[in-house]
Amino acid sequence: LMAEKGGYKHFMLKEIHEQPRAVRDTIAGRLQEQQGDVYLEDLGYADAALQTVQRMVIVACGTSWHAALTGKFLIEGHCRIPVEIDIASEFRYRSPVIDEKTLVMVISQSGETADTLAALREAKKLGAMNLAICNVLDSSIARDAAGVIYTHAGPEIGVASTKAFVTQLTALYLFTIRLGRAIGRLSVSEGQQMIADLKKVPELLEQTLKLNGQTEKIARQYMNARDFLYLGRGRNFPIALEGALKLKEISYIHAEGYPAGEMKHGPIALIDEHVPVVVLVPKNSTYEKTVSNMEEVIARSGRVIALCSEGDHEVQDKAEATLELPELSDDLDPILLSVPLQLLAYHIAVLKGTDVDQPRNLAKSVTVE
Ligand code: G6P
Repeated sequence: LMAEKGGYKHFMLKEIHEQPRAVRDTIAGRLQEQQGDVYLEDLGYADAALQTVQRMVIVACGTSWHAALTGKFLIEGHCRIPVEIDIASEFRYRSPVIDEKTLVMVISQSGETADTLAALREAKKLGAMNLAICNVLDSSIARDAAGVIYTHAGPEIGVASTKAFVTQLTALYLFTIRLGRAIGRLSVSEGQQMIADLKKVPELLEQTLKLNGQTEKIARQYMNARDFLYLGRGRNFPIALEGALKLKEISYIHAEGYPAGEMKHGPIALIDEHVPVVVLVPKNSTYEKTVSNMEEVIARSGRVIALCSEGDHEVQDKAEATLELPELSDDLDPILLSVPLQLLAYHIAVLKGTDVDQPRNLAKSVTVE
């Protein structure tokens, strides 16, 4: 079994370490650097069809839903098409406003999640254009959707999704370039810049994985907390949600993700000297605002664990613990930030002695509604 796990103690840890390779495989053969475009072999829609898209709805469950939330920032930011995000089990029952000019995208690692499959079928029934981001070849969702963007994470065994998530973020980024180019919202040089940034990801993921040892130490320091708060802004808010979900799933510690600026409307009441607050604060356009949210936590004796950019002494001086990440881009920071959050949840769970790969009450793929 140890061999199956590639020498790692758990599948989850193995899969976390496979992420540079997983992203490399998801990008492979798809970049058209000269044209600042990408080639998505099974997308199912040519430029003319994509040009008719007036809005998008992205539907998913669990970790895949967190990926969907980041997709809104990418697509609205670069393509200026309004994007709505919904949870698959909600979508069908709210009589969604969908027509043939709506592109419905579903995201599913397994391609078998019952709620997501039902949402896709509902979208098709309403005449929407439709496509799936999927990790499992020939799965029900991949077969049913008009188009599919496969992630190439490889089989994911750990119930808590890791490498599938970062490849979903990668696939959304690729799709954004394709859509932007198809509808003429993204110039060749903008596409080229996005591709150049993307190509750095595998290497920077390798670098980020070196935080493993440091993250384990932090896990020891905070493992006995009863509640955790995760804060991020913009594209990093979904990553805060995902960090909190990882911790809940495998360590059974209560955790909440919150948009940093919304904390003052409620969760700040929870903060005292017992609550670790993980703050995602890379150097980006909302950096200053997030730093001031971090200061609000510190003023109430919250124990800040900051994920910041390399060499950020201002944050290092203020936070109780810091993990420094390489600088990349606003769009791709979420991928790098995901790694220490996965490792933090992993090490806390191991220290607590839970069944990391098979957490109680959870299933890898939920095929009942
Ligand atoms: C289950 C898994 C999660 C996963 C979710 C959606 O709850 O435990 O890790 O994110 O299903 O799965 P999907 O295969 O549709 O991405």
